[in-house]
Amino acid sequence: MTTQDPIYKTDALIAENIEAYLEAHQHKTMLRFITCGSVDDGKSTLIGRLLYDSKMIFEDQLATLQADSRKMGTQGQEIDFALLVDGLAAEREQGITIDVAYRFFATEKRKFIVADTPGHEQYTRNMVTGASTADLAVILIDARKGVLTQTRRHSYLAHLLGIRHIVLAVNKMDLVDYDRTVFERIRDDYAAFARSIGIADFTAIPISGFKGDNITGLSANTPWFEGPALLPHLEGVEVEDTRDQAGPFRMPVQWVNRPNLDFRGFCGLIASGQVRPGDAVRVLPSGKTSKIARIVSLDGDRDLAVAGESVTLTLEDEIDCSRGQVLVAAQAPLEVADQFEATIVWMDEAEMVPGRAYWLKIGTQTVSATIHAPKYEVNVNTQEHLAKKTLDLNAIGVAVVTTDRQIPFAPYAENRDLGGFILIDKHTNHTVAAGMIHFALRRAQNIHWQATDIGRAHHAAMKNQKPAVLWLTGLSGSGKSTIANIVERKLARMNRHTFLLDGDNVRHGLNKDLGFTEADRVENIRRVGEVAKLMTDAGLIVITAFISPFRSEREMVRGMMQPGEFLEVFVDTPLDVAEGRDVKGLYAKARAGQLKNFTGIDSPYEAPEAPEIRIDTTETSAEEAADLIIARLIP
Ligand code: ADX
Repeated sequence: MTTQDPIYKTDALIAENIEAYLEAHQHKTMLRFITCGSVDDGKSTLIGRLLYDSKMIFEDQLATLQADSRKMGTQGQEIDFALLVDGLAAEREQGITIDVAYRFFATEKRKFIVADTPGHEQYTRNMVTGASTADLAVILIDARKGVLTQTRRHSYLAHLLGIRHIVLAVNKMDLVDYDRTVFERIRDDYAAFARSIGIADFTAIPISGFKGDNITGLSANTPWFEGPALLPHLEGVEVEDTRDQAGPFRMPVQWVNRPNLDFRGFCGLIASGQVRPGDAVRVLPSGKTSKIARIVSLDGDRDLAVAGESVTLTLEDEIDCSRGQVLVAAQAPLEVADQFEATIVWMDEAEMVPGRAYWLKIGTQTVSATIHAPKYEVNVNTQEHLAKKTLDLNAIGVAVVTTDRQIPFAPYAENRDLGGFILIDKHTNHTVAAGMIHFALRRAQNIHWQATDIGRAHHAAMKNQKPAVLWLTGLSGSGKSTIANIVERKLARMNRHTFLLDGDNVRHGLNKDLGFTEADRVENIRRVGEVAKLMTDAGLIVITAFISPFRSEREMVRGMMQPGEFLEVFVDTPLDVAEGRDVKGLYAKARAGQLKNFTGIDSPYEAPEAPEIRIDTTETSAEEAADLIIARLIP
């Protein structure tokens, strides 16, 4: 590097005049990009090269690296390239908790944030996280290996997530003697694939991250390559905000600022359109309308705000509006629905469980949602549709999603902010999937709740009782059915109207189509929950005896009932005791391998964490257990 080098001049400016340097930086545009590749494609080397060549390493990074170099006895020397790369790689290995490392660097022309994501298969999640805010994706290919499944998956995701600029960086060109035909074959291979998934355009660059070829300038080693080199290309791509300023006004409310009773400001990022004081707006999903009073900012009120800006708005009327709701142009509201078709990218080690409730985060709100069995999975290599019952780690598929309430949305293709969502497992808190809404199902809009005159209160009053659900859960052979039966007998003697739903019996009728896979058990409990709910609406005291091995579904059923109506009864019998009894001989069969997915043997049982009632059957008789349950139900 010479002192003529523009990057070097930046460096000198930092030393001389930090104020001037910061000032110069403020007016530069910012490019956010992501690097994707497989494990050994040389990502760390490339990122190290970009940081090194631009000489703009984050200060704390610099400090660590210098400390490291002191430890290694290279005190006082400039950090060298190899050391930098080692540092990045080490950080990446230790940083198991860091899904995506964002690294900052800058050149004379532009500032950059690169999302550095690990390449292992199981990290599709991280690529999605990094990609969701990126303007550009650098797809790295090892020149010796060519286009791989991983390349295709990453490209497909980048395209799906709406990244507009793709760079195909064919790396390690030094290891193939800078062979033009190798580069061109890979480029053409990729072009055919890109076309098939709808990527209109990409820029292919032969590079060596290690040697520095075609990074800051064109390399003498590839005289046949006309350019551009990587860094100049990254400096040149357009990065204007893609949010639609001409479209109708939409702003998901991030939070409500209420410092005193006279001021209520709705804060959020404008996802599309523009807004002025006096504009008529509607709050979704409630549908209430008002007018914009003020656009408040630190530098005084504004006359106009546009898509991409974060603002605080006040309304003329005191209407209900809270976090998660969306402010829209009154005349052009968003669609509101509770059932959608969506593309789903599954990112968790545990496969998707159709019918299970997950948290769904869209815009600024979080709701509960269930996913139906997938319509199909996409083979990322061929675009074929595969029939699948579930989605595994890294699978991309299409499925119907049902939310527990109406949400305002836009198709993802129209608006990333209003059509993109993530799914979170309610128990592990893992982000398990990313989703993109295609459209709402018409069914959701055409089925309305029919109000009836004789409601649940009436039914309960006629029976002179409070409806309830006594939900018994425990291993097979734990004693659920025995206890449930005694409870029902005792309640009948007390003139209570009851109904007992028992696992084995329900599986003879309503649920005879279901087996014992995770998905079938989830569906079993979902249906039983719905039936129990109808029965409480009819005023009954419902007693259920199902293994119901998963916390998620027991919680789901609890959520379907009125507060206080659901009593979880853990029939706690240790596995060895239940197995010792083996009334139906099923444990013996399971141990002999003749019965698959048997609870406690090769299928899990998740014990309740805070049941209303716990029965230790090694100490309590079935009669005593029944009395305990009734005492809790009717104090
Ligand atoms: S649940 O897991 O879906 O809640 P459910 O309570 O309906 O199970 O059914 C459990 C009953 O089915 C058991 O008491 C047992 O008699 C019978 N059964 C047959 N196969 C299995 C199995 N693989 N695992 C557990 N129970 C089984």
